[in-house]
Amino acid sequence: STIENGNFEWSAPSNIALVKYWGKKDNQIPANPSVSFTLNNCKTITKLRFEKKDASANNNFSFDLLFEGKPKEDFKPKIQKFLERIEIYLPFLKDYHFTIDTQNTFPHSSGIASSASGMAALAMNFMSLEKVLNPEMAEDYFYQKASFLARLGSGSACRSVKGSVVAWGDQKNIEGSSDLYGVEFPYTIHENFKNYQDTILLVDKGEKQVSSTVGHDLMHNHPYAERRFAQAHENLDQLIAIFENGNLDEFIKVVESEALTLHAMMMTSMPYFILMKPNTLQIINAIWKFRNETQIPVCFTLDAGANVHVLYPKNVSDKVLQFIQDELVVFCQNRQYICDQIGDGAIAL
Ligand code: PMV
Repeated sequence: STIENGNFEWSAPSNIALVKYWGKKDNQIPANPSVSFTLNNCKTITKLRFEKKDASANNNFSFDLLFEGKPKEDFKPKIQKFLERIEIYLPFLKDYHFTIDTQNTFPHSSGIASSASGMAALAMNFMSLEKVLNPEMAEDYFYQKASFLARLGSGSACRSVKGSVVAWGDQKNIEGSSDLYGVEFPYTIHENFKNYQDTILLVDKGEKQVSSTVGHDLMHNHPYAERRFAQAHENLDQLIAIFENGNLDEFIKVVESEALTLHAMMMTSMPYFILMKPNTLQIINAIWKFRNETQIPVCFTLDAGANVHVLYPKNVSDKVLQFIQDELVVFCQNRQYICDQIGDGAIAL
């Protein structure tokens, strides 16, 4: 098939890792497997317009980039690099001129990484064009390849394509798991995790101190790397059991330990970084105190930054939100936080 011009539009959500991806090999192959909850409200919405180029046009990638409706030059090198990486899998890319029109539902400088949702949304759009050109493509293959392509944009983006709980990386006890793409967690998930809540406390909205590219690289020659990679496999095996039995105390132990281990890896690399802020620690201590006093199963996780994700089941959300408003918003920049919950993945609009 051929097509001259048209457009697609997809939304793709952010995701929050429970077992963290930190360290990679060549070609965006993760050094250890990871698993995440897909988010629902924090997402990127991307429209892709495409127009066949003249036969006489040069043989380069050709695209314009609009962010929130305005041209955005500083995002272009990242997209250019992404196109270079995926061209062998989408050989039509140089035949078209693209206009990529993208926006996020969360504030740009919130310290919430938009690379996962952004790269996933873009990968979905390119797959829609691929599907027009190859209409016989099966649905499963469509999503698998979309995740494969998203991984080449940003590793964690491969977990933002399809499913509520997504595993990425080869893990013996997860059938179908792969280093090349994310897979929807293939076993039953206890109803305790249904509608799980994630309230994101915006502690520091500044630019990231360390890009994730630099961070992953610091796991090369890291003194604790091998033990850490083995631990991620162990923690993922524990979570497989926890997803089935619904034991929230065990869930909390694995998830909080993973968050602190991610930061411990950064503190013990060379060069070393502390990405938590004083208010990050204030929040962690307040959560521990609240949990001890109330026995409410609320816990935290962290990304490679100072913001705190507060995770809890839907049935305690009134009490936890009250606690957040009473005791935690004082530690947030401009008292800002974002209420989110577990979602399902990318949607064609
Ligand atoms: O996808 P990247 O290369 O930006 O790495 C993301 C790394 C963490 O967010 C810290 C952990 C994860 O698994 O999402």
